[in-house]
Amino acid sequence: MESLTLDSHSPEETQLLGSYLGELAQKADVFLLTGELGTGKTCLVQGIARGLDVKEYAFSPSFVILREYHGRLPLYHIDLYRLDCIEEIADLGLEEYFHGDGICVVEWAEKGLQVVPQDNLFISMHYVAVSQTGRSISLKPQGERYNELMKQLRKERELWPKMRNAKQCRV
Ligand SMILES: Nc1ncnc2c1ncn2[C@@H]1O[C@H](COP(=O)(O)OP(=O)(O)OP(=O)(O)O)[C@@H](O)[C@H]1O
Ligand SMILES: [Mg+2]
Repeated sequence: MESLTLDSHSPEETQLLGSYLGELAQKADVFLLTGELGTGKTCLVQGIARGLDVKEYAFSPSFVILREYHGRLPLYHIDLYRLDCIEEIADLGLEEYFHGDGICVVEWAEKGLQVVPQDNLFISMHYVAVSQTGRSISLKPQGERYNELMKQLRKERELWPKMRNAKQCRV
């Protein structure tokens, strides 16, 4: 399936997209995030947490590589930013999380491409030159499960403004 590119105009819009992903997420889903510093990866994870009914706030892990949150499903928030080589990442033993009971969201996923599952939803975030709060967010599904997830996301997207009563929502 083709990738989908969305424009976000604010952190709230990015979180709204995340919350839809969180609502649609199923056990053992893997969402890989890439994008420069400050493009909003953690912001998206906060939305995913909300969509999963996580009551705690999803902080940027900064020094912590893996954080676990508890919602409808466990959310494993993994941040590879501080890891320098693939050996270090391989030593983390992330497989048990990727194939476990919850969903994994990986920031700086491009650093760990050799160890992450081939089937995944790959999300790249970019700054938009003309605006401080503009971001372009591309979602690329790899594998059947994620094609299906994208179908659902596209369907729900048509309903977003009504469902969320977010008049200015342009995600
Ligand atoms: N449209 C937007 N979407 C997301 N964040 C935005 C947007 N516009 C502005 N921001 C701001 O950009 C910052 C994004 O920070 P965030 O920690 O989510 O980025 P990050 O990609 O996780 O960075 P890092 O690479 O350091 O982990 C926040 O301060 C947020 O308020
Ligand atoms: Mg972050």
